[in-house]
Amino acid sequence: MQALPLLGGLAVLLAHRVREAKRACREMDALIDEYRQLFNTPVERLHALRDALVEQLEAGLANKPGGLLALPSYVDVLPSGHERGHCFAVDLGGTNLRVAHVQLGEERGATEATHIREWPIPDEHLDTDKGTLLTYVAQRTAEVVQEHAGGGGAKPVVGFCFSFPVEQTAVDNGRVVVWTKNFRGTYLVGEDVVGALRRELAAAGVDAEVPAIMNDTVATLVALRYGEPDTQLGIILGAGTNCAYVERADAIGKLPAGFQGRTPTMVVNSEWGDFRSPLLPSCEEDLWIDCSSAHPGSGLFEKQISGLYLGEVARRILLRLAVKGELFGGAVPGLLDRHFKLTTADMAAIDEDDSAGLLGVAEVLDRALQIGGTSLQQRQMVREVCQLVCLRSARLCAAAIAGILQRAGHPCGGASASGGAASAPAPHVVVAVDGSVFAKYSKYRERLRAALEDVCGKAAADSIELRLAQDGSASSSRRLSPAAAAAAAAPPASSVKSCAGLAPEKLLGFTVLNMTKQGALVGVVDDVLAVAETGEAQPLLHVRAPADPALPEEAPREEHLIPFVPQIVPSYDPTAGLVFVQPPSGLLDLGRQQLLLAHLQRDLEPYTSPPPLSLLSRMGLRVMPSAKQLEEAGRPDLVTAVKQAGGFLEVASYLGLRSQRKPAGFWEDDSNLDEELTLFVAAHWTRFQDPESRQSYWYNQITHRITWEEPILPERVDLDDEGSYMLTEAEDDRVMPSKSAVKAAGRYDLHHAIVQRGGYTATGQQLGRRSAWPPSQHLGSLPTLRQELRAFLKETGLRPNRMPTASQLVDAGRGDLLQAIVQRGGFVATARMLGWATQRRGRSAWQDPQAVATELRQFILEKQFPELAGRQPGRRRQAPQVLQQWAAQRGVQQQRSQQQQELQQQEQRQQEADVPALPPEARLPTHAELARAGRHDLRYAMQRHGSCMVAALLGIECRRSGAHNRGLSAAAEGSSEAAAAAAPACAEEAD
Ligand code: BGC
Repeated sequence: MQALPLLGGLAVLLAHRVREAKRACREMDALIDEYRQLFNTPVERLHALRDALVEQLEAGLANKPGGLLALPSYVDVLPSGHERGHCFAVDLGGTNLRVAHVQLGEERGATEATHIREWPIPDEHLDTDKGTLLTYVAQRTAEVVQEHAGGGGAKPVVGFCFSFPVEQTAVDNGRVVVWTKNFRGTYLVGEDVVGALRRELAAAGVDAEVPAIMNDTVATLVALRYGEPDTQLGIILGAGTNCAYVERADAIGKLPAGFQGRTPTMVVNSEWGDFRSPLLPSCEEDLWIDCSSAHPGSGLFEKQISGLYLGEVARRILLRLAVKGELFGGAVPGLLDRHFKLTTADMAAIDEDDSAGLLGVAEVLDRALQIGGTSLQQRQMVREVCQLVCLRSARLCAAAIAGILQRAGHPCGGASASGGAASAPAPHVVVAVDGSVFAKYSKYRERLRAALEDVCGKAAADSIELRLAQDGSASSSRRLSPAAAAAAAAPPASSVKSCAGLAPEKLLGFTVLNMTKQGALVGVVDDVLAVAETGEAQPLLHVRAPADPALPEEAPREEHLIPFVPQIVPSYDPTAGLVFVQPPSGLLDLGRQQLLLAHLQRDLEPYTSPPPLSLLSRMGLRVMPSAKQLEEAGRPDLVTAVKQAGGFLEVASYLGLRSQRKPAGFWEDDSNLDEELTLFVAAHWTRFQDPESRQSYWYNQITHRITWEEPILPERVDLDDEGSYMLTEAEDDRVMPSKSAVKAAGRYDLHHAIVQRGGYTATGQQLGRRSAWPPSQHLGSLPTLRQELRAFLKETGLRPNRMPTASQLVDAGRGDLLQAIVQRGGFVATARMLGWATQRRGRSAWQDPQAVATELRQFILEKQFPELAGRQPGRRRQAPQVLQQWAAQRGVQQQRSQQQQELQQQEQRQQEADVPALPPEARLPTHAELARAGRHDLRYAMQRHGSCMVAALLGIECRRSGAHNRGLSAAAEGSSEAAAAAAPACAEEAD
């Protein structure tokens, strides 16, 4: 009885728990939905944020309240890359200290960080008020300097890359504005950090020069800009976040009055981490993170974006889901409620786990937060939270990049509020990005790119290249090297002078800056071409662009010739080694085009092969691929590059590639027309086979030249490395084709070009080409051909009313007769028209089995018993030789014809003489043997009569077996048809 109330109570409890669980579930759904909407920040809101950021940046530049710090870096020139010797680079980042020994090479830009040491900054130094931070930095630096500084008494040079806001008054001087990230205190705030480092170094036993200090974003920008002139922004996405960019100096209102830079631009450190806006997609967790941070109330943008905080945001959201949505069944498991227990690296690992069971997520939860035994559903939720936190960061970062680009004049930022692409094609811009979040979190990079497309529109976003300025810790040297080089090169003060009256040679080795493009680096003066050399009215500066460290040293570089005249080269700075130029529009594009062409020469190579076995391929010529071919090969980039370099015709002509279409003026150039004629002639070689001897010969329909050897085609001979070449050509082939031949080939372009030049005869004379032997008109009529052939047979002593063979005609130099025969459809066809026999026996010739046996006997003798054969394999050459002799003597043909006739008759007699009997071991040739020897006539004949019958006539054994004896029985019955049908099998048996 007492059990009843107990059961009732349990039921109530159970129902309550079910209700609670359902409530929690609803709560979790509602919560996660909120994050989904907030963090997948709508594009309109991103545009508003972008515009707000630009406003705050501009306010900062003008020193107005409410602006970003927008700190001038005093970096107004880039390192020339010609610095020599070595220096040290100190990089005090958010979590690590790195010191590198940088070697500045002989070659321009050849900097190499030869030794890099790296230490995590011990927590004790994060409280800067202890005053130990720079002592620590100086001691570690001293270790490296003492290890690597060479003797000679010169002071070691140290460049300082500093990841905190510094208000500079010069490139080598700056007061700390505030410590950020996890660094606290007021140490050095308002004091010169460079002077402090010098003092600390001295205390550590190193008397060093510290000629420059740079924010890490500035160093990143400078480092990439060093080899990539399109670099406009330097961004850090690491523990902290920030962006530096190239600004017009006259727009930096906070520069001291009367400041005169060496160039019209200066790199500005925006300090965007402190951007603030009520529109930021903030959540409760941001508030908690801010409150418990080293700097509550500041760096709010950075706290939603950078690596120091992302993992913590995700952890806090998961905690909220655990408490309010009972993500982990009502409890707060493991270390989920401990600050900073989930790092951004953990978060990235969770986000990037694409496995079906999310075992990677389980592993991270277990290791980092000691949460084990999670269900797949829980892990999916954990992963989604991490993805959303990453998404918010990436979208905010994209909006900020768009804002800075807008400030720098890129159409990305200027896209309409709807996010549509700007109408004009956006110029290529490179954004140098450094920091662990960008470098190590691939899904972050993907989301950032996608967000850029959302914010800027696809076309504008495509013109923005986000380039990692480093990869992993070792290559931080890449950032440090140029930073250090810049530091080492920092000139003391501006000393700009006019170039008037200056000897241009004085500028050798100087760095050239383009004043019309905000001081963009053009290159270094590496030669001066004097008036006498160039024939120009003024000397020319030869300027070579810097090498791209990412490319092999021999990779082509832009080169420019800049006229040394005051309008174009007005001033220079001898102290800084700078020349300032104002090139007229288009002048520097030429160099760019040359560079593009040089790159294209290499990149197009795989697509320039003509079809295999084609004439062009045999001649070693290359062809210009079409846009369609390149696109189909997956290289639309090359189509764009070709267009930029002047188009397909221009590129083809520069690279010496044959293109279908010819550029304007092509035909006016003698060498082009001559080459086309050479190719035209070469394309008209045709291979024939002498029906009697089965030997191949080649006949050229243009020159009417005939040769027994395969003709040597014109060959391409390269004249230089820049694509100039010439074609070799046999003197015999330097022929001017006839009008009818050119037109018959459908080459109206060629025909037109020849007519334009005054006709075929005139063109032939101009180009030194003799007229082709005009196709013998008189042989066009059958009676004339008959008459000519008769005369030929008579002259050569050949049998009358029987077609001569091709070889006889060729050897006698009567290509005209051969041509006429070929034009009439060949020997058999012509013979039929003339009512003559051919030498080649037609099918009818083999009706007589005895004739077959005679021919086969000869074949067997030649192949199996050459020593017995009356005529050796060389026989077929004898007659032509005789004829050749005769032809050579044609001048005395009449006197010699008697002798010739005798020779011919002798030959004929020999042919008809009885061949010796076959030895007993002789065997019937197989069909394969006959086919190999080209004796299809004999194959046919054997089929016709049956191999065994022929064997019987020859007195040799017909080896056969089983089912294959039908041939013989059929033959015995007199059915030659059946025998013919069975013969191949029988003959095969004999093989
Ligand atoms: C600092 C910046 C720095 C950025 C990246 C921020 O906290 O204020 O100066 O560039 O972190 O390291």
